[in-house]
Amino acid sequence: MKVYRVPDYKTMSRLAANILSAQIISKPDSVLGLATGSTPEGTYAKLVQWYNNGDLDFSKIVTVNLDEYRGLSGDHNQSYKYFMHKHLFDKVNIDPANTYLPNGLAEDPQEEGKRYDRLIEDLGGVDIQLLGMGHNGHIGFNEPGTPFDIGTHCVDLHETTIQANQRFFDTYEDVPKQAYSMGIKTIMNARKILILVNGEDKAEILKKAFYGPVTPEVPASILQTHKDVILIADDAAMSKV
Ligand code: GLP
Repeated sequence: MKVYRVPDYKTMSRLAANILSAQIISKPDSVLGLATGSTPEGTYAKLVQWYNNGDLDFSKIVTVNLDEYRGLSGDHNQSYKYFMHKHLFDKVNIDPANTYLPNGLAEDPQEEGKRYDRLIEDLGGVDIQLLGMGHNGHIGFNEPGTPFDIGTHCVDLHETTIQANQRFFDTYEDVPKQAYSMGIKTIMNARKILILVNGEDKAEILKKAFYGPVTPEVPASILQTHKDVILIADDAAMSKV
C-alpha cells in the first residue's frame, strides 16, 4: 500500500485527480470505478477544471459506479446517478452510454447484482477504482460484517448509515433503507485502487482500517491485502496514526 499524507482536502483532491488523469491519458479507453459522497467531490471538480483547460479527453472513457440506492430512479436528486451527472458526467465529454451504475429500480435484486458483475467483467474489469470510506469503515455500501467474498448485492443499510444520510432527505421515511453495492470481491478485482480519506472524524477508523487487523468488521481493512492500493489522507484523518 502506498500512503500519501497531505495537508488538506484540497491537496488530497488535486493528487487524486492527478492519478486519475495519468490513467486517462495513458489509457484513453480506461474503465474507471467511481464513488460518490463528499470525499471525491473535489477530485471531480479538478478533473472538470483540467477538461475545461483542454488537458483531458473523456470521449472513450467508461465508468462503473460503486453503488446506488434501491428504490430511487436515476432522476431523483439524491440518487447516485444524479450526483455523478451533476459533478462529472454533464461537465465533460463522456458518452452517457458509457457510464454505468446499478439500477435502483431493478425488480429482482439478486439478478441486478449478477447483471452488474457480468457487465463489469464484459467491460474487461476496472482499471482504477476510486473509493471513499464511511465512518464505520464501509466501502461502497459494504457494511461491517459483510463477507469479503461476495459480488454486487443488495444491502440493508445500517441504522448509522441511514441516519448519516438523513440530512439529504426531507423525512426519515424518505431515506432509502437499502442500496446496491459492488461487493468487496468486485472491488478487490480492480487492477488499482485509490482510496481517499479526509477529516478528523475519520481518524479513528482510518487507523483501524489501514493499521489494524484485516477483518470483515472493518470492511476497508481488506484493502491492505490488495497488490496496488494508494491511500491519500489529509493530516486530520492521519492524526491518530
Ligand atoms: C456513502 C457511500 C460511500 C462513501 C461514504 C462516505 O455511504 N456509499 O461510497 O464512501 O458514504 O461518504 P463521505 O465521502 O460523504 O464521507
